[in-house]
Amino acid sequence: MNDKNFKRYTITTALPYANGPVHIGHLAGVYVPADIYVRYLRAQGRDVAFIGGSDEHGVPITIKARNEGITPQDVVDKYHGIIKESFKDFGISFDIYSRTSNEMHHKTASEFFEKLYKEGKFIEKSNEQYYDAENNMFLADRYITGECPHCGYEKAYGDQCESCGTSLSATDLINPKSAVSGNVPVMKETKHWYLPLDQYEPWLKEWIVEGHKDDWRPNVYGQCKSWIDNGLHARAVTRDLDWGVKVPIEGADGKVLYVWFDAPIGYISATKELTPDWEKYWKDEDTKLVHFIGKDNIVFHCIIFPAMLKAEGSYIMPDNVPSNEFLNLEGDKISTSRNWAVWLHEYLKDFPEQQDVLRYVLTANAPETKDNDFTWKDFQTRNNSELVAILGNFVNRALQLTKKYYGSVVPSLNELSDYDKEVLSSIEGFPAKITKALEGYKFREALRETMNLARLGNKYLADEEPWKVYKTDEKRVETILNIALQIVANLGILADPFLPFSMNKLREMLNMELLTWDEAGATDLLKAGHQMNKPALLFKQIEDKEIAAQVQKLADTKEANAMAEHKAKPAKENIGFDDFTKLDIRVGTILEAEKIKKTKKLLKIKVDTGIDQRTVVSGIAEFYKPEDIIGKQVSILVNLAPKNLKGIDSQGMILMAEDADGKLVFVEPSDKVGEGSEVR
Ligand code: 2FM
Ligand code: ZN
Repeated sequence: MNDKNFKRYTITTALPYANGPVHIGHLAGVYVPADIYVRYLRAQGRDVAFIGGSDEHGVPITIKARNEGITPQDVVDKYHGIIKESFKDFGISFDIYSRTSNEMHHKTASEFFEKLYKEGKFIEKSNEQYYDAENNMFLADRYITGECPHCGYEKAYGDQCESCGTSLSATDLINPKSAVSGNVPVMKETKHWYLPLDQYEPWLKEWIVEGHKDDWRPNVYGQCKSWIDNGLHARAVTRDLDWGVKVPIEGADGKVLYVWFDAPIGYISATKELTPDWEKYWKDEDTKLVHFIGKDNIVFHCIIFPAMLKAEGSYIMPDNVPSNEFLNLEGDKISTSRNWAVWLHEYLKDFPEQQDVLRYVLTANAPETKDNDFTWKDFQTRNNSELVAILGNFVNRALQLTKKYYGSVVPSLNELSDYDKEVLSSIEGFPAKITKALEGYKFREALRETMNLARLGNKYLADEEPWKVYKTDEKRVETILNIALQIVANLGILADPFLPFSMNKLREMLNMELLTWDEAGATDLLKAGHQMNKPALLFKQIEDKEIAAQVQKLADTKEANAMAEHKAKPAKENIGFDDFTKLDIRVGTILEAEKIKKTKKLLKIKVDTGIDQRTVVSGIAEFYKPEDIIGKQVSILVNLAPKNLKGIDSQGMILMAEDADGKLVFVEPSDKVGEGSEVR
């Protein structure tokens, strides 16, 4: 269907698990692109339902509760609040942000299941599943861990390996263990309800493999195709757990709906909460349904949820499922458990009111086609050399000059030069380019085009130099600034979806309402004689020391993780006391140190051992600078047989302790002692 023919839009964003705060990976992967798209649609005057909420069921929540000795409800109450607040702070403009532990959702999910059950859409099957005999519980999904049969990762979950991304069954795991007790599980019989995905295979093939080859992103299409090509199987949609939506049929005590069955229904429940007129957003063929998700959610949104909707029979299918790849942080995978993340609530403490900077960087560097890396250096560069130097600088120059020469009243457009005409016609071309990129879910490209409009403005002012021309030809300056101001006003519309906070500020300065998208491209948005307000800077420089503080924070996390993960090697075989006394270890003081030429690791060190002054070669050049270790007291094994290294006789060995990440540090006496003191 042509886009113009859609009457309304239902835009959903993956419901984050309410078991921790949200971080830049969430924002970059799902919420910022979805929000840009929604703001763009609203600017077009379209009818949009922008749906979000917290995923409050599933094993990630109950495991967290168990670890912290609190109830699952406590966990979700805490994090739902934090997550909701973060989204609001970053301007994610949901029409509703709901949660799956609420009554409306339980009722909706229950009825959905019941309908399918009554219509015989499920298969009922009993089989043996892993069970923790000590804790009397079945080990669903993340309650069981083991080695991934595909990549060998040792902490793969019963439903998925987070290392290679493969979706697993508990019985695929090698050496499975209960995540609760660490025990080897036993097998026990249990009954569950399965959705026979194989029955939907022909339809899925036609709908996705044939129908969406060209309009879905290659990563999304590719994952779906490979699932379908490998053959689909029945999937259990219930679990033996006590947290979740109760299975609403007789004989299902102690069973709940599988979290991936109830969570996507959460989109529907939230829409119901939003409006009594919810059905048109889900059942009317004139509605365009789009799911924004991360790549680990593709199969659930493209295969399983659509199969559920198809089984139910009265729902529309998603028109597109734009899914991003992952965003890494300074070269490493973002990880909640390892605290390797930039948390949104913490970012705002360090960079108050700079939400747009993060929105900008995450869009400019969005992992749309491949995994991407967020680095603080890049964050600083994009702020300082793009937001400040291009967009901010252009806007500021145009507004300050108009204030200086015309008291912030828009001057008139007089005689036009060829260059003026060229610039005016290129302004007119921008909305179409940005629109095309947005319609194709190419948000990086859309942002790049938008910034090109600011670049055009910057270049125009730099070429025309109104500050010089004013001395000789005031009339000409009126025209130059009028044109520059039209570019600024266009940015006030076209950059709004990306930078809503700053563009709001900009429109206040321009004394201009948010106009519709269709009005963009016009070159008379600000009429001559229009009085504007006082200009102020839109963006500010981010200093080196602010970046250094963030980099240090991550370094501290890395160190804490290394310490936590460091496992001591097992002890060596016992030796007799006589063997020990053969070692002659003394305290010595370093007198001189120099790097040995043409080596990376070696230092030549002169040590006062109390017995003598001797030379030792030590492989610590990567960790210490020669000048920093002079005067240090160290432990030195003095009766080690001399050895020639790089032409130098090394007489003994300085003892070093090896850190978790391979770093070597001196073993020093805790108080100063005389040279030659024995270590025993
Ligand atoms: O991966 C996740 O964080 C899931 N909680 C996403 C659920 S999306 C939807 F189906 F609710
Ligand atoms: Zn794996």
